Amino acid sequence: MEKKLQDLKKTFMSEMDNVKDSQFLADLKKKYLGRKGELTGILKEVKDMASEEKPRVGKLANEIKEELTEVFNKTEKIIKNKGDQAIDFDPTMPGTKRQTGHLHPSTIVQQEVEDAFVSMGFSVYDGPQLESDYYNFTALNIPEEHPARDSHDTFWLEQNWLLRTHTSNLQVRMLEKHGAPFRGIFPGRCFRYESTDASHDHTFFQLEGLMIDKGINIGNLIATMKSLLSAVFNTDVDVRLRPGFFPFVEPGFEMDIKCLVCEGKGCSVCKQSGWVELMPCGMVHPEVLKAGGVDPNEYSGFAFGLGLTRLVMMKYRIDDIRLLESGDLRFLKQF
Ligand code: DAH
Repeated sequence: MEKKLQDLKKTFMSEMDNVKDSQFLADLKKKYLGRKGELTGILKEVKDMASEEKPRVGKLANEIKEELTEVFNKTEKIIKNKGDQAIDFDPTMPGTKRQTGHLHPSTIVQQEVEDAFVSMGFSVYDGPQLESDYYNFTALNIPEEHPARDSHDTFWLEQNWLLRTHTSNLQVRMLEKHGAPFRGIFPGRCFRYESTDASHDHTFFQLEGLMIDKGINIGNLIATMKSLLSAVFNTDVDVRLRPGFFPFVEPGFEMDIKCLVCEGKGCSVCKQSGWVELMPCGMVHPEVLKAGGVDPNEYSGFAFGLGLTRLVMMKYRIDDIRLLESGDLRFLKQF
């Protein structure tokens, strides 16, 4: 009888090793501990045994019953807490990869440009996107009725407030606050009330730069722009400088780069021209310096308005600007 009990325990334990799910476990319980189960059967036999063996065998039978019940309860608990697959857990399997978020491509490029400028001694500033007519236009030598306002399709709000159309809105704010000499960049979101296509969106990013000091000239401007572009693209890119008109700089330029999406062949991004306007820039107009409280006879400087969104498109060869603000995960997951 004692041997029978020990054998039963052994088979029970080896069957427990194969438990796969709660159904299997319930069947095992029935088989051993149920009313017609194997152990229950033995316990019944013990009752009819000769009296001198009975206490010893009875004790062993009860001990084994307790042991089996304990193992059974433990396994049941694990399955209940972790689900059926807990039993199948294989510690040598590679883990499930957790999904992590990442920076938006515009933020990645913005930070790269910031790093390049910080290494040249510039500081990074932020400013309002909800702006007054004064800082967005008038202080930049664009008074009311000036035709240059037409080129900025503006989201007008109540009482001459607007959504800034460019990051140049911070030029005079920064000069008023920090005075000269000054070296800063201001990246940020801008808005234009215009119909969208592959190269225009109502919301986009610019990165404005302003450097004011004694004796600053066009040579400083060009050298700064070139170091920036080689830092961002890690290679020399073809650029060209054309005269450009902006009321707040004199002289003003357009710095274009050879389109990297089509390599100059012509595509929707470069409007088939092979070149992309990336960086309008120029020497700060004396009227703007005056508006910021800086004496134009003592100081001069340059300003530029880098099209950050365009730069992102060039860097990652994105051929439709609207993807960037779309929030489309199929697009964003590629970065
Ligand atoms: N703010 C201008 C725009 O968005 C671009 C610009 C032109 C910025 C010349 C500048 C500059 O700083 O010097 O159209």
